[in-house]
Amino acid sequence: MVSESARNVRVVALASGKGGVGKTSISVNLAVALAREGQRTMLVDTDFGLANAAVMLGVNPPDTIEDVLEGRLPVEAAMHVTGDGLRLLPGASGVLADTAPLETANRRLAEGLRRQSETLDFVIVDSPSGVQPQTMRYLAMSDRVLLVLTAEPTSFMDAYATVKLLSLDHGYTAVSVISNMVDSEASGRDLFGRFHDVASRFLPADLRYLGSLPRDEHMRMAIMRKQPCVTAFPESRATAGLARLAQALAAHDIPPSSGGSRFLGLEHLDGVA
Ligand SMILES: Nc1ncnc2c1ncn2[C@@H]1O[C@H](COP(=O)(O)OP(=O)(O)O)[C@@H](O)[C@H]1O
Ligand SMILES: [Mg+2]
Repeated sequence: MVSESARNVRVVALASGKGGVGKTSISVNLAVALAREGQRTMLVDTDFGLANAAVMLGVNPPDTIEDVLEGRLPVEAAMHVTGDGLRLLPGASGVLADTAPLETANRRLAEGLRRQSETLDFVIVDSPSGVQPQTMRYLAMSDRVLLVLTAEPTSFMDAYATVKLLSLDHGYTAVSVISNMVDSEASGRDLFGRFHDVASRFLPADLRYLGSLPRDEHMRMAIMRKQPCVTAFPESRATAGLARLAQALAAHDIPPSSGGSRFLGLEHLDGVA
């Protein structure tokens, strides 16, 4: 297991169940905030239906994760490096062509990420909404899932379903919560408390609280400008909250799990290094 302890990169995947709660916005802004703090960061957009991360970053790269999964390009060629030094593997809009078995496709992605991993501190994975098997598989391959929760009952229920599937079907328990669109830090903490009470009563999850993000129209206005909020509105409450989340994530205890190793394909090295 030498390769495990030698690995510094942390693979963090955003999840929610429900759509429209802020996964992509938070992925993009967290990734930019981390990159600006000097954390070597890659953003991987695994939303094959609504590949929005590139749009929110204001870039339009020609190649996507689909080129990697289908074996046309290595990760190095398909990724786009932004002005902040963030490495983006853009999502693909449309369904993955059924040319290769999923196992083969995922292995190509894992091997490409493994090559990058030696020069990375964070891989941020944006996920589609919903609880599709492939989505759950990617989540369960990360070192830590960041579950985005809002005060809406539907968000609460869908987040619960996500944690349930992860823990019961995949034996995956490493979940940290971000309370989004909250009125105050106290209500964010309260929302987490209620979720924690219910989920930990019924599910074997290691639930932790990463922090909250206030409801702030600048998040939406930034998308209209095709810029991350942290770039477009540096003085906004949202940007302050995103910077706090980035710092909390950098300080969060995220030991590389065997899950992240699967994502990065590192399990092949076990026993060799
Ligand atoms: N903290 C926030 N305050 C206000 N609006 C937000 C906040 N977070 C996200 N949004 C808005 O919510 C909408 C959905 O966000 P998005 O990131 O696309 O969600 P998801 O990826 O979960 O579907 C966007 O219009 C975004 O601007
Ligand atoms: Mg999204």
